[in-house]
Amino acid sequence: MLSTNPHRNCCIRPAPLGYNAPRGVALSEDKIIAIYPGSFDPVTNGHVDLIERASKLFDRLIVALLLNPEKDPLFTVEERVEMLKEAVKPLANVEVDTFGGLLVEYARRKRARVLLRGIRAVSDYEYELQMALMNRQLQPEIETVFMLPAEAYSYLSSHLVKEVAQLGGSIRDLVPPAVEARIRAKVKSSQ
Ligand SMILES: Nc1ncnc2c1ncn2[C@@H]1O[C@H](COP(=O)(O)OP(=O)(O)O)[C@@H](O)[C@H]1O
Ligand SMILES: [Mg+2]
Repeated sequence: MLSTNPHRNCCIRPAPLGYNAPRGVALSEDKIIAIYPGSFDPVTNGHVDLIERASKLFDRLIVALLLNPEKDPLFTVEERVEMLKEAVKPLANVEVDTFGGLLVEYARRKRARVLLRGIRAVSDYEYELQMALMNRQLQPEIETVFMLPAEAYSYLSSHLVKEVAQLGGSIRDLVPPAVEARIRAKVKSSQ
């Protein structure tokens, strides 16, 4: 099927921006900047899998930790940022940042054209769809791109990792090593 696509041999990058640039979004040359927003409490191998895939697709990827006082996180913002930075260290075009307020406003300030989100199972879809459409309503020039993790991570969530750790189960294959050590320490200090 793919081979019948007349665009198959075309360059998959869009035409250089700046020319015909959509109004309202400041664009930086023809570089495609993507933002991967989330709570990352803590970052898991599923997040890292997605980050690695996206770092190959986009020129720059900003992993943006949402400052959300309504949630009751296990790790502080500083701890979560440190763990994320450690996890993305090998990837030269990936950086870590924090943001508050509207995601599309933050994206506009960063000159990003893409919002990256992960979809694990059908259960993620409804919420993600709602959010993507709302963001499109707020800022039509910014596209939400969904990516799938490797199958092995499609059941993995930060929430589950915390639960397993608290119950004494092994989380070795679920999170980066530095994260495993920190969760262990947290669980120990809370017992
Ligand atoms: N194991 C995983 N595989 C792929 N995507 C994931 C995985 N875990 C979380 N995600 C995605 O990463 C993004 C951030 O997740 P999360 O840190 O839970 O923040 P949020 O509070 O925004 O859901 C979401 O799009 C989520 O669906
Ligand atoms: Mg989540």
